[in-house]
Amino acid sequence: MTTLTHHEPLNALLRRMPKAELHIHIEGSLEPELIFRLAQRNGVALKYESVEALRAAYAFKDLQSFLDIYYAGASVLLKEEDFFDMAWAYFERAAADNIVHAELFFDPQTHTERGVPFETVIRGLHHACQRAHQELGISSRLILCFLRHLSEEDAFRTLEQALPWRQYFIGVGLDSSERGHPPSKFERVFARCRDLGLHIVAHAGEEGPPEYIEEALDLLKVERIDHGVRCVEKPELVQRLVRERMPLTVCPLSNVKLRVFDRLSDHNLAALLEQGLVATVNSDDPAYFGGYLNQNFIELFEALPQLGAREAYQLALNSFEASFVERAAKDAWKQQLDHVFGAAL
Ligand code: HPA
Ligand code: ZN
Repeated sequence: MTTLTHHEPLNALLRRMPKAELHIHIEGSLEPELIFRLAQRNGVALKYESVEALRAAYAFKDLQSFLDIYYAGASVLLKEEDFFDMAWAYFERAAADNIVHAELFFDPQTHTERGVPFETVIRGLHHACQRAHQELGISSRLILCFLRHLSEEDAFRTLEQALPWRQYFIGVGLDSSERGHPPSKFERVFARCRDLGLHIVAHAGEEGPPEYIEEALDLLKVERIDHGVRCVEKPELVQRLVRERMPLTVCPLSNVKLRVFDRLSDHNLAALLEQGLVATVNSDDPAYFGGYLNQNFIELFEALPQLGAREAYQLALNSFEASFVERAAKDAWKQQLDHVFGAAL
């Protein structure tokens, strides 16, 4: 790696800087081409005639309209190698974006509901994580997400199925339809997960109100908030998040596609950083939302002129600090980051 010259465009710096991705649903990295290839391989019928027809359906009006298509896309995943192929395709993209560490969400209930064993899912994903480390030098971890539109009982059952594979994942999260499914619905499941020594995160304050962020903190005892952009509606909550150095995994392109913000230029990420929040940039469901991690950085920085090299450095550093890895790894990544930015700051 060479150090930054004074004239290196911001885009080149954003691409080149080492970074971690902490909010990526691996099922949301399933590209239409791969959906069609797996459908053919597995003899699964699709509602769409072609890759183009499927892609044309990616016009969402809110979270639920996206989730309906996202769960339909995942229906082609049946075999261990399908899960491997999906995750491997993501890791190749991640390497191209200079991602050195990724924490992947996976939704086991989307698959076990269709009769795919938990073991099939986690073996395929784990194999891809191992190979990403060996061949691409990317470290990764898996985080099991509970679908919040399903019951507490279903979540407990999923946790039981996961326990034989406890060493293959480091934490649990909460995703799917936010409104009407507050964190409190899963308080007991998450208490059990904490007893098991799992890391805890939850989606909150994407479409749901700031009170859901407070529930995630108080009842689930999360270590990061996924999205969290609606915290700004409650100044005392913002102050608390700053005080507790609670990371937010923000997903700019997702927020526009799911109409959380009308335009990227309306996004509050620069304001969040300005207020001292530990914000990070992430892709969420890159195959559906128009771009992987570097695309999120580049479009966001183009849309928000307040963002420059200093903020790029801060966002990359935040991604390392907010990750669930040992101190030594964070320090090593920070050194790489310092080297890339050189005298630019
Ligand atoms: N929000 C909630 N659930 C999800 C998302 C999201 O952005 N992506 C995949 N599952
Ligand atoms: Zn998400």
